[in-house]
Amino acid sequence: MKKKFVLIIALIALVCGFLYIKKTNSNQKVAAENEITEKETNSSEEASTTEKDEQLSNDELLNSFLKRLDELEKNTQEYGENKAITINTGNLLAHIVYPEGKYAILNDEIKKWVDKNIEVYTKESEISSAELSIDSSSYIINDDYISVKLTGFYDNSSYTHPEDLIKTFTYDIKKNKMISLKDIYTEETIKTLENTIIESNNLDRNFIDDKLLANFVFKHDSLEVNLKRGMYTPMSDGNIVTLLNKEYFTKNNIKYFESKKVETETVINNTAKEKKKRELPDLEGKKVIALTFDDGPSKHTNRLLDILKKNNAKATFFVLGNQINKYPNELIQIANDGHQICNHTWDHKQLTKLSEKGIEEELMKTRAQIFKLTNIDTLTVRAPYGSVNKRVKKVAKNLNMHFVHWSIDTLDWKTRNADATYKAIIKDAKDGAIILCHDIHKETVDSIDRVIKKLQEENYVLVTVEELFEIKNKTPETGKVYFNVK
Ligand code: NI
Repeated sequence: MKKKFVLIIALIALVCGFLYIKKTNSNQKVAAENEITEKETNSSEEASTTEKDEQLSNDELLNSFLKRLDELEKNTQEYGENKAITINTGNLLAHIVYPEGKYAILNDEIKKWVDKNIEVYTKESEISSAELSIDSSSYIINDDYISVKLTGFYDNSSYTHPEDLIKTFTYDIKKNKMISLKDIYTEETIKTLENTIIESNNLDRNFIDDKLLANFVFKHDSLEVNLKRGMYTPMSDGNIVTLLNKEYFTKNNIKYFESKKVETETVINNTAKEKKKRELPDLEGKKVIALTFDDGPSKHTNRLLDILKKNNAKATFFVLGNQINKYPNELIQIANDGHQICNHTWDHKQLTKLSEKGIEEELMKTRAQIFKLTNIDTLTVRAPYGSVNKRVKKVAKNLNMHFVHWSIDTLDWKTRNADATYKAIIKDAKDGAIILCHDIHKETVDSIDRVIKKLQEENYVLVTVEELFEIKNKTPETGKVYFNVK
């Protein structure tokens, strides 16, 4: 009896050693499920902010977040370039980031899934407001395999819970096809893997189907199996991630996919120069206007920078934290060319749906990351979808930040046409206007040379938002939203 007990303990210890199980309540929305806890935290947060009236200085704010930057979980993005889609139908606000690289079959599968979800959720959002957010990770494991994982959520105001989304893709490079674990392992091995997932997560065998291992990802140090929230366990458990490492494979006599780390990590080879204020040109008899570019940097940013330089025009870039990791050199170049860099949050979440803590994280993580690369502390934010409320403004005020939105919306994300973008800008151009464009779209960048030439012809000087405030003798107030500067 005693022997058996010891054996069981040893077995449990063994299993625990090789498995790493993570229950993620990845998006902050999950917290809303536990209303009481959320309310309690919120009210104590509010109490503490009202108690201490002294505002933290920008240095103090930055330092507390800079220390934490290294602990941040960054998405690994080894395959291709990031493509981003932003949609605002009035009801549906969506931001989707997915990779596109050199393998057509893999690209097509990913794009098909993205398109299908946009279609389904656009329909789903016809009568009520909703947000769709999808982000991606990708791994080039060796000469054989590439794994891509898309995760996110769909949050409809008429649902009780946001719906979690997860989809993985694994591509066999040599065989030029998409694969599942069944293409690699014998039936017996699949059974072993399934049993491990069932036992380690205490799953009810009655609900197990043949999709248990469907959402798998090869990572450099493990095989990751994702169970979507609510699929095999109660909703309150969140998404469940099980990582099986190399020792687990050896122990169970399963062939391990040797990782051969291809150097795909973005090398930062650009250095930030000290920021110098430019001498403003003579503005006598001239009008001023600000071109702004959101959601980047992207693979099109360098070309845009060349166009701006050639035309002696300055612009403002509202960047996303998760894009900076992929395009750090572009970010530094924006600063070195004398353009203004501003904050567009970490991953384009609708701020009005987040808790105070969540809003602060979105703003400060991005601000700290921009500072780390450029030595510029930017206090200007553009809220994703222009969506702000009292809570969002209050948090921004506490962080000494203000919002700059726009007075001319080119709708370039929708038209995806250089001519349409050009017309949208020229038609509404005015002194003090702030124009919204996106440097993640090729067609937008295609339009800019013509746009600048025409604006200059019409007596405009293209300035940054910062310069616009200066020229108009205005100082932005913390917590306020500006649509133009007159
Ligand atoms: Ni945006």
